[in-house]
Amino acid sequence: MIEVMTSPTPSFVAKPTLIGKRVLLRPVTVADAPGLVELLNDPDVRRLTGTHGQVRPGVLERAEALYSAQAAEDDELYLAVVEPATGEYLGEVVLEDLDADNRSCSFRIALVGPRAFGRGYGTEATRLILAHAFEAVGIHRVGLEVFDFNPRARHVYERVGFVHEGTKRQALHWQGAWVDAHVLAVLADDWSRHGGFPASR
Ligand SMILES: CC(C)(COP(=O)(O)OP(=O)(O)OC[C@H]1O[C@@H](n2cnc3c(N)ncnc32)[C@H](O)[C@@H]1OP(=O)(O)O)[C@@H](O)C(=O)NCCC(=O)NCCS
Repeated sequence: MIEVMTSPTPSFVAKPTLIGKRVLLRPVTVADAPGLVELLNDPDVRRLTGTHGQVRPGVLERAEALYSAQAAEDDELYLAVVEPATGEYLGEVVLEDLDADNRSCSFRIALVGPRAFGRGYGTEATRLILAHAFEAVGIHRVGLEVFDFNPRARHVYERVGFVHEGTKRQALHWQGAWVDAHVLAVLADDWSRHGGFPASR
């Protein structure tokens, strides 16, 4: 058996601040919880993420508990997307489902619709966190799923290097209609080929 030398086991224990031109990513705090609640109440975000049901009572307390626990988590990374000048919370980016043996994880992003969609924030936030995943943490594969009725998100993902791997047919039942979910992933090699963060703007 040939032993392959690899860098240390990947972990999300480090909680970085990542600075872009349009957005800044920083570790979430309990003070961001009202922003997360706004996100969870946004009808566009609920549809595009396929989130069924109503927001339940106690959502602020659950959001506070989730965000305040993040500092200690080593298998997931929640960063707030904020407006650099004002510090306003615009949404969250998340790396989770860390499989350290296989150096893989999944990614998701959601911005607060009315004030954040379509301004380049999502593209930059995705590039910033992928740069961290590949270049600082040593992740090999980042995967996600995107619904067929969300071409904006798919466009952003493919623009930064995600590749379509397949389709889960009729994976979501939304308001009486079946919706496909597309499986996308970006590998460390794709990321390098794409030019990494600075060259791929
Ligand atoms: C998906 C999301 C993160 C994208 O972030 P964003 O800041 O809105 O996107 P950006 O402004 O960076 O880029 C949008 C791109 O999509 C393109 N676009 C917009 N509508 C589109 C459509 N219907 N079809 C294809 N492309 C579209 C824009 O032209 C732009 O591309 P360009 O820069 O090459 O011109 C954000 O819209 C969001 O949070 N949506 C709600 C939650 C969600 O859908 N999360 C993803 C679940 S998989």
